[in-house]
Amino acid sequence: MLWLGFIRVSEWNVDDVEYLDLLSIVDPIEEKQRIQKYKFRIDSKRSLAGHLIIRQKIKSEYGGNFKLCRTKENKPFCKFKQPIEGVCDFNISHAGDVVIVALLKSSLSSPKVVGVDIEHLILRGNTSLGEFLNDMLPSFDPEEQKCILQPYRDAHPKALVTQLTLTASDEVVQNVKIRFFIHWTLKESFIKAIGKGVYFPLEQAVFKFDSNEENILNCRPQLYVENKHMLNWEFKSCLLDNEHIISVAVGPANDENVSESLINCLCGSIAESPNSH
Ligand SMILES: CC(C)(COP(=O)(O)OP(=O)(O)OC[C@H]1O[C@@H](n2cnc3c(N)ncnc32)[C@H](O)[C@@H]1OP(=O)(O)O)[C@@H](O)C(=O)NCCC(=O)NCCS
Repeated sequence: MLWLGFIRVSEWNVDDVEYLDLLSIVDPIEEKQRIQKYKFRIDSKRSLAGHLIIRQKIKSEYGGNFKLCRTKENKPFCKFKQPIEGVCDFNISHAGDVVIVALLKSSLSSPKVVGVDIEHLILRGNTSLGEFLNDMLPSFDPEEQKCILQPYRDAHPKALVTQLTLTASDEVVQNVKIRFFIHWTLKESFIKAIGKGVYFPLEQAVFKFDSNEENILNCRPQLYVENKHMLNWEFKSCLLDNEHIISVAVGPANDENVSESLINCLCGSIAESPNSH
């Protein structure tokens, strides 16, 4: 079972007293200190929101006897103080105004991991999409680049990417931007599911779509890692609103790409569960 929850931070009004009250719920102390360390209150609020939502959800599913911990590569996971049925993995992402949380319950016979990523479609500062893509696209696979730029190529077969904002219509620009962030969030959701974060070379994960479908949000993305088709993985992307895009990845915990420390942490709960004896 996959559960997704989100909150719009701008609609979450907490004054300083409430904020400190809520912060006092956060456990362990390292998490509290991490949340307090953010320079800007908005970042700390996003991180606190993610933490509180996942705590509440885990509590409602399994009761309050657990502790939130981190793997060696920093992926948060849940350490239960008593055996649970099956396996529980979760993931958090925050961007723009939104914090999103995914919780996945899977069986012992087929344990799974989950990753979620949200991105804000508004580019920082005065960066144009053309400049942004010139910086970002070289690290994408040539087929991914082609797929991302498809609407632009259709409209302007001979133009350069740097001219994107000068010559393309708003609709084409928006389309290209969405395609870019679909690829980006898919890659991020995968590296977050396997728990490796920045330790996984992103260029190794290549996403392909059915080229006949105009709206790639309707397609089932296919992942290739170093040319190997990852058939056991499932991905879904969607627009939450006009400014936020999310992708979710679900795959087998015993996949060779999953971080060893994540497997060990999840296996802690597998080994302790009643059915494993
Ligand atoms: C973990 C990582 C993926 C964070 O990505 P991000 O987009 O900056 O941030 P998000 O808001 O999506 O996720 C942050 C949350 O991920 C979780 N997280 C941290 N490390 C993680 C890991 N190794 N695996 C899975 N989840 C992790 C945490 O819950 C964190 O929030 P918290 O610290 O408030 O609890 C990090 O490895 C990273 O910075 N990657 C950037 C790599 C890059 O260049 N991507 C370009 C894509 S083309």
